[in-house]
Amino acid sequence: MKVAIGSDHAGFNLKEAIKNDLIARGYDVVDVGTHSPERADYPVYAKACAQEILNGNCEFGILCCGTGEGISITANKIKGIRCGIGYDDEVSALTRKHNNANMIAFGERFMKPEDAIRRANIFLTTDFEGGRHADRVGMME
Ligand code: RB5
Repeated sequence: MKVAIGSDHAGFNLKEAIKNDLIARGYDVVDVGTHSPERADYPVYAKACAQEILNGNCEFGILCCGTGEGISITANKIKGIRCGIGYDDEVSALTRKHNNANMIAFGERFMKPEDAIRRANIFLTTDFEGGRHADRVGMME
């Protein structure tokens, strides 16, 4: 599976940790940046990561910033993107099962790397349930 990943400077270390874990698990990872801890603007990377999904190159996207908020808010403004925040293990599964999320966001300043890594894997291995949830997701669009 091909997965896009992006972050600003405040999510850079977490992005690298998640990326390395995914590569070790055999995922094909497209890193849209940022590529250093130098100051960077999260909307740039939210949009670049979303584009990888919208153009069909990647199935899912993972975003990191300081809180997970700014980068997810930006992603959710883009038509066709549904980005949940992975603040809990069960929620990381439910955003796939119920919301058919195609991106998940994490906050480096508020989440332990091991928690975000585990939640990224939960997210990527959980299927959308469809049914009544498909009707609701359709209503979003
Ligand atoms: C950057 O300092 C920080 O504002 C950003 O990473 C993010 O947390 C915004 O929502």
